[in-house]
This record gives sequence, C-alpha cells and structure tokens, in this order.
Amino acid sequence: MLIAPSLLSCDFSQFGNEVRRMDLAGADYMHLDVMDGHFVPNITFGAPVLKYVRKFTDKVFDVHLMISEPLKYINDFCDAGADIITFHIESDSDPEKTIEKIKNRGVKAGLVIKPATPAESVFPYLEKVDMILVMTVEPGFGGQSFMSDMLPKIEKLKKEITKRGLNVLIEADGGISAENISQCAKAGVDVAVAGTAVFKAENPERAIRELRIKN
Ligand code: DX5
Ligand code: ZN
Repeated sequence: MLIAPSLLSCDFSQFGNEVRRMDLAGADYMHLDVMDGHFVPNITFGAPVLKYVRKFTDKVFDVHLMISEPLKYINDFCDAGADIITFHIESDSDPEKTIEKIKNRGVKAGLVIKPATPAESVFPYLEKVDMILVMTVEPGFGGQSFMSDMLPKIEKLKKEITKRGLNVLIEADGGISAENISQCAKAGVDVAVAGTAVFKAENPERAIRELRIKN
C-alpha cells in the first residue's frame, strides 16, 4: 500500500518545507486538497500555490479537487505540476470531458465518490480512469472519524476492477490511522491518504512506517 500524507493538516506558513518534510519522512504521494468554499464548506489553496511548492519535492503530486467546476481549472493544475488529478463525480463538470482533458495533458485522472455515492456510479468510467478515490469521511475537513461502512463499497469496487482486468488504483481518504489501515488494505485499498495520523504524530517518519507495517 502507498501512503499519501494529506497536506491539509500542515503548517501552511511553511508549505514548501512541509512538503519537503513529508518527502524525507517517506511519503509516496503528496495528497493536496483543493477546496473552493462552494463544493465543500471550506477553502484551501489553488494552482498558483501548488506551482510554488512543486519545487520542494519530486514525489507524485496527487491533487484532490473538491471544487464545483473542475473542468474549468484542469489546465491550471496541469501547468502547476499535478501528476494525478482526481475530481468528484458529484461536481457540475461532465466526467467524460474532464477525464479527457486531464489525460490529454499527460496527467493521470481519477474520480472521487462521497460517502453517499454508490460504487456503481463510477462503473461506466472504469476503463477511462487511473484511480478511484473513495471518501471515508464527508469531504471538507481533516480530523474526522473513519467511516467503516465504506469498506463494503471499496470491496465492491475492487471486485469490479479485478473482474474487468483493469489497472485502476483505489485510494481511500479520511480518518485513516494505524487502527483501521489493515481493514482498508483487506478491502482492496492501494493508496491510503492520512492527514491527522501523520501530521499530529510526534514523529511523522515513524507514523508513515507504522501505517505501512499495519496493512
Ligand atoms: C478531507 C480531505 C482529506 C483530509 C484527510 O476533505 O480530502 O484529504 O485532509 O485528513 P484526515 O486523515 O485527518 O482525515
Ligand atoms: Zn483529500
């Protein structure tokens, strides 16, 4: 399993250094949560900020767009150095067009589903995407509790991906810790996002190592 620390819990006055710190601590991906205050009730940062912090690491930039109109901003996030862009199927943009726009830029594309959205909603797009991100909390804030009732949804998704012989990664995001990461791995999660579990730990390097061991 790959570990993707969510920078949402970092000290934003040191954003670049925090990215570097996670790189040195052994992060596989940098999970970057973009929120517009409209799709979710919180605001974070946009493409110009990402462009600056891009210089601090060569690790994969996994950009999670929690915005109403992702299609409008795909070029900006590609220009800023995103390696993977995931956007919500519940957003206002056409999934097919948005995936196409991301892939035409040579960037990996993924769809995100909120807790109330069933696994089947992304089935029509499985052949077109590189990743499905399953939210294990309501998107918008770090530090919430893991929703274990999302595990059957992950299992269903994994089963469908395997049945079709596809190479689509499953990412899980929200409330992931050493207590529940083995359940995630068992259900079929390939990439685990962890904000609080990594940033609130005394030693992030050890926290990442522990998450890896537990799964
Ligand atoms: C929530 C974000 C998550 C969040 C994870 O909307 O998408 O990436 O920061 O943080 P924790 O691990 O604290 O739930
Ligand atoms: Zn996220």
